[in-house]
Amino acid sequence: MDGLIAPHGGTLNARELTGESAAALDERAQSLPTLALNSRELADLELLANGGFSPLDGFMTQAQYTGVVDRMHLPGGLPWTIPVTLSVSRDDANRMKGEVALTDADGTALAVITVAEQFEYDKQHEAERVYRTTEEKHPGVAALYQQGDVLIGGPVQVFRRRGDATFPEYRLDPAQTRAAFSERGWRRVVGFQTRNPVHRAHEYLQKCALETVDGLLLHPLVGDTKADDIPADVRMECYKVLLDNYYPKDRVLLSVMPAAMRYAGPREAIFHAIMRKNYGCSHFIVGRDHAGVGNYYGTYDAQLIFGEFDAQRLGITPLFFEHSFFCRTCGSMASSKTCPHGADDHVTLSGTQVRQFLADGIEPPAEFSRPEVARVLIAAERAKV
Ligand code: ADX
Repeated sequence: MDGLIAPHGGTLNARELTGESAAALDERAQSLPTLALNSRELADLELLANGGFSPLDGFMTQAQYTGVVDRMHLPGGLPWTIPVTLSVSRDDANRMKGEVALTDADGTALAVITVAEQFEYDKQHEAERVYRTTEEKHPGVAALYQQGDVLIGGPVQVFRRRGDATFPEYRLDPAQTRAAFSERGWRRVVGFQTRNPVHRAHEYLQKCALETVDGLLLHPLVGDTKADDIPADVRMECYKVLLDNYYPKDRVLLSVMPAAMRYAGPREAIFHAIMRKNYGCSHFIVGRDHAGVGNYYGTYDAQLIFGEFDAQRLGITPLFFEHSFFCRTCGSMASSKTCPHGADDHVTLSGTQVRQFLADGIEPPAEFSRPEVARVLIAAERAKV
């Protein structure tokens, strides 16, 4: 026993075949009808392959979908908050019977789904339940509205990983992060989700958490993000300079999360936590407006939602953090829980203000962003023009 937290549902369900059985399925896939996956679905397939979506064995069936959308639980009673679906047009649905080969955009077959069910679904209803809005301005809702009108559900078996996977040396599967934790002797590990460069507030959260556990999994999401989010390759450069300069190597593991962002705020916080549990994290950081976008969610909604779940069934322990900032009078990072001073003493910048600094080639205040990180971001900004 490695002493690490058990995966969601008890065991890692990695839907990947290797060796001869993979070759045999690859061969069989050549004669099956094909379905090309979009980038969100490819990311989901990777998480099914590597066990990041345990206990799911494939794209959701109707009972799973309804349980998740309406009750935030899978039929067996395990918490799950975001649908993992595969959609097709009504026309294509007729071809999708029995076994179907799932391909990347170039037509390379990666997996076979055994279609158990096809079903119609109500996109507006899903939007309202999962995203708390039906507005198409919401990026997650916009993606949902673009999906096909029929969902196909059933188990998948993956025989080839996507050929375009970014950051291969950092793309560790749950079995690999677990092995890395146990090699280092870590048992209590805190996971940090991020889709942004690491600013001082992020670093503060991570280090506060790290004071009480054995190790930190810095786990940036590198699947689809909104067009105005900083691209993953630039963020990776930021994480590396930060780790090199300010983190003890034996306490931090940098690895990437293949998932696509949904921007579903509270529901996505639970989803993010469950995936990190599968990667071996016992704890998970949830700060302000986790996975939020615009003004769709209250600042702490993504923390409050944890109260709706049985802590035992969820398994992973959330660590909540207030909005954090540098306080000039305290001379340190702080939050309203630890600092008595007013807003004038606090260094806070909006996303728009940060973007303006970077576009002008000016480093944001060192209290907001480490100079090493600011320099990477400015260089990336310059490279754009
Ligand atoms: S997210 O979409 O991945 O949540 P981001 O990368 O900005 O976006 O946030 C990563 C984590 O840090 C989230 O848990 C978020 O709530 C938290 N966070 C970001 N900035 C702050 C801050 N200033 N104070 C407290 N928590 C923060």
